[in-house]
Amino acid sequence: MRTDTGHVFKLEDYRPSDYLILQTSLVFRLSPEATRVIATLTIERREGVAASAPLVLDGDGLTLLGIAIDGRDLQPQDYAATPDELAVLKPPAASRFELVLETEIAPARNEALMGLYRSSNVYCTQCEAEGFRRITYFLDRPDILSIYTVRIEAPHNEAPLLLSNGNPVDSGALADGWHYAVWHDPFPKPSYLFALVAGALGKVADSFTTLSGRTVELGIYVEPGKERLAGYAMDALKRSMKWDEEAFGREYDLDVFNIVAVSDFNMGAMENKGLNIFNDKYVLADEETATDADFANIEAIIAHEYFHNWTGNRITCRDWFQLCLKEGLTVYRDHEFSADQRSRAVKRIAEVRTLRAHQFPEDQGPLAHPVRPRRYREINNFYTATVYEKGSEVVRMIRTILGAEAFRAGMDLYFERHDGEAATIEDFLKVFEDASGRDLSQFALWYHQAGTPNLTVSSSHNARAKEFTLEIEQSVPPTPSESRKRLMHIPLGFGLVGAGGKPVSYDDVEGATVDNGVIHIRKRRHVVRFTGVAERPAVSLNRGFSAPVTLSVEQKTDDQFFLAGHDSDSFSRWQAFNTLLTDALIAAFRQVLGGKPPAFAQRLTELAGRIAADETLEPAYRALALSLPGEADIARDIGKGIDPDAILAAREALALAIARANRENFTGLYERLADKGPFSPDAASAGRRALRNILLDYLALLPEGAALAATHFRSASNMTDRAAALTVLAHRHAGSAEAQQALADFEAKYRNDALVMDKWFQIQAGVPGSKTVETVRALTGHPAFSMANPNRVRSLIGTFSSANQTGFHRADGEGYRFFAETVLEVEKRNPQVAARLATALRSWRSLEPGRQAKAREALLAIAAAQNLSADLRDIVERTLA
Ligand code: PHE
Ligand code: ZN
Repeated sequence: MRTDTGHVFKLEDYRPSDYLILQTSLVFRLSPEATRVIATLTIERREGVAASAPLVLDGDGLTLLGIAIDGRDLQPQDYAATPDELAVLKPPAASRFELVLETEIAPARNEALMGLYRSSNVYCTQCEAEGFRRITYFLDRPDILSIYTVRIEAPHNEAPLLLSNGNPVDSGALADGWHYAVWHDPFPKPSYLFALVAGALGKVADSFTTLSGRTVELGIYVEPGKERLAGYAMDALKRSMKWDEEAFGREYDLDVFNIVAVSDFNMGAMENKGLNIFNDKYVLADEETATDADFANIEAIIAHEYFHNWTGNRITCRDWFQLCLKEGLTVYRDHEFSADQRSRAVKRIAEVRTLRAHQFPEDQGPLAHPVRPRRYREINNFYTATVYEKGSEVVRMIRTILGAEAFRAGMDLYFERHDGEAATIEDFLKVFEDASGRDLSQFALWYHQAGTPNLTVSSSHNARAKEFTLEIEQSVPPTPSESRKRLMHIPLGFGLVGAGGKPVSYDDVEGATVDNGVIHIRKRRHVVRFTGVAERPAVSLNRGFSAPVTLSVEQKTDDQFFLAGHDSDSFSRWQAFNTLLTDALIAAFRQVLGGKPPAFAQRLTELAGRIAADETLEPAYRALALSLPGEADIARDIGKGIDPDAILAAREALALAIARANRENFTGLYERLADKGPFSPDAASAGRRALRNILLDYLALLPEGAALAATHFRSASNMTDRAAALTVLAHRHAGSAEAQQALADFEAKYRNDALVMDKWFQIQAGVPGSKTVETVRALTGHPAFSMANPNRVRSLIGTFSSANQTGFHRADGEGYRFFAETVLEVEKRNPQVAARLATALRSWRSLEPGRQAKAREALLAIAAAQNLSADLRDIVERTLA
C-alpha cells in the first residue's frame, strides 16, 4: 500500500519528461506468487536535454531482479532502485538506447486490484491511473506514448486464453505444458491503457463490419458457463460501433475488439486499447438475474468504454489534470447514445437526477473541485461526479452555444488535429473556437472554477406597455481554496408559455443575447425585456437543463401547476412537478419538526393522479414524475440543520397522501400494466414495468399493501419486478412476516449468484430506520459477503452509508462508528475502494449539531489511524478541512 507522502501535484508544475519510450516490449511468465516481467524499452532522450540527465522511472512496490542497457548489465553504482523508483544515474551518451528490466510481482497477493492481479483464478490488469508502475518501472504518465509488443507465457491448463492489447500475431506451445501468445498494438498508447488477461474463460464471438468495409472480430469473455448472459452486452457493443460511425464519423481501428468480464474490479469498466476489462456486473444479464436498470447500465457502459477508443485512446490526456478531456466528453457521448437508443426525454431527466444526487453535493461540500482540477494528492480520488458528469454537461453546453453543426465541425477538427496526441482542455476548447469563430474564453471558466452557480430570477409583466421582464442575477458560491469567483457564461434555456401551453411570441428582446431559446447570461445581472407581450406568460426556465445551475425563482404556485401540466419542454414539465413536490416536502419537514403531522394540498395529490393516468405521456416519464424527491435531495434543498428522521416522516406522509387520494386510479392502472407476453429489455417495456412498480410502491402503503407486494413478489417473472417488490416489502413493511418470507425466499433461490446477492445486500442495507446498522453489521458475516470484493462492499456498506439517510445518520452515532471501523478494514486491502466509501460523510456539516459532532468524531477516528493510505488520508483531511 502506498502511504501518504503529503506531496501535492500541481498543474502549473507540468513539464515534458526528459526521455521518451518509443517501443515497449514485455514478456510475462505468469505465476500467482511470482510472475516474472521482462521489459525491453527503447528510450530516447528528448532533444535539448543534457546527456547527464538521469532517467527516473516510476515504480510501486516493485522488486528489481535485473537491469541492462544495450546488452550490458548495469553496475550497482550506475543505478538506484527502491520499490517505488528506479533511477539510471549515468545513461549512455547516445540519444537512443535499449533498457532491459526484470521485475517480479505476486498477482495473487494484490488485493488493491491495481496492476496485475487475480480475480477468480483469472490474471487481469488495471493500470489507470497509476497501476502500470506496479508491473514494471516505467515513465508512468499519460503523455508517454509507446508502441507495445506483449508476449505472455503460462501453463496451458491454467490459462488456455492469453490476451493483450492490439492484434494477435503469434502463439504456440512451450515445454512442460506451457504455451505463449504474442500481441502487437500498432497504435502508440500511454501505459494506463495497457492490459493483459490470462485464464480459462468462455467466449461469445461475433463480428462487425465497419463503414469502410473492414471486418472486426468481436469477443466477450466471461466465466465458463455464463456465455448466455453476455448476449445483451454484445448487442450493445455492435449498436455502439454503428452509432459512433453515424453520430461522430468514428470507425474502429484494430482487427479485434475484446471485452473481458471479471468479478473483482474497483470501478465499472476500463477502456484498455482493444481489450476492455469490465466489472462483470456491467456485462452479465438476463431477465432472471438483471433489472431493467442493469440492462440500461450495461448498454451505457459498453458504449462508454467503446467510445473511449477515440476520446481517450486515439486522443489521450497530457496529464491527469486533463482527466475530464476524456471522461466528460465520453460521458457526453454515451448519454447521447442512450438518448438515441431509448427515450431522449426520459434519459435527460434521469441524467439530471443523477447529477443533482451526486455532483451537486460534491460541488457544495468540502470535496468540491473544478472540472479540471489544479491540484491533487491522489489522482484516484478525482474519478468524480464533477469530472465525469459535470464534465459532460460542459460539453453539452458547448453544443448548445455553438449549435449542432458547428459542434460537429469542432469535433471533426479535434479528431483531425489531435489524433495520436496527448491533449489538454485548452486544445479542446480551441477546436470549437476555430470551427465556429466564437470566443469561449469566459465559457472556459466552467472547467476552471468549482461550485454550482446560482441564478436568482424574478419576472414582471406590464400589460399597458406589453412588456415582459426577467431579472436574472448570477452568483457562484465560494468553494475550498476559491473564495472569489469570476462571472460565468451561462446558457439559460427558456420559454414563455401562454394559454394551452403555446409559446408566447414577442417582438424584440433587449438586455442579453437571446438565440434559439437560450438567454446568454454573462454579466452579474441582466434585465431582459421582451416587448410586444400582451398577456402575462408563465416562464419556463433552464429548459432541457441547459446549464448545471441551481435556480432561485419566485414563481407563482399557479404557474408551477400550469407548467407541470402544459410545458412543451418535457424536462421542464417534469421539473415543474418535481419543484411542487419538493416545496411540499420542505414545508412538511418543518411541520414535522414543529410536532405536527403534515398536510398536503389536494391539488398536488390530484395532479399526481392525472400524470399517472396521462396516456399521452410515456410510462417511463410518468414513473419518473411519480418518484418523489429522495431523502438526500430534500436534505440538499433544505441545506442546513438536517434531521433525516424528520425528512423521512415528511416523505412518507406525502407518499401516503398521494396513495390515499388515488387508490382506485392507481389500482386500475397497476392491473392494466401487468406484463403480457415474453420479456423484452427494451426501453418501452422497461418503462411500463417502472410505472407499475412505482404504483406498487404507493399502493403498498395502504391497508393490504404488504399482501399486494408479497403477491407481486411471488408472481414476478423477471428480476425487475422481483427486486422492486422485495424493496417495497423490506423498506415499507420492514420486519413484517411478508418481508421476512420474501427475503428468505430470495436468499434461498440466489445464494450462489453473487451479483444477485448484491441486490439482496443492497435492499437490506437500505431499510430506513435505526435497526439497520445492526442488520448490516450482521450481514458482513454472511457467507456470500466478502470485504475483499468491491461489488460486495459497495452493495452492503456503500448503500448503507450513502443511500440510507436514517440508518446511517442514526442519532446516537452508531452508524458512523460502524462506518469508520469498516472503512479502515477495507482500506487494509483496497485503499481506492475505502477512499470512495469515505466520501459518504462529505456533507457532514449540513447535519443538525448533534449528528454533526458524532460524524466529526468518526472522521477524526479515521484520520488518527496509523499509516493511512494516500487515498484515504486525502479524502478524510479534505473532508475535515
Ligand atoms: N477510465 C474508466 C472509465 O471511465 C474508469 C476507471 C478509472 C476504471 C480508474 C478503473 C480505474 O471508463
Ligand atoms: Zn470513462
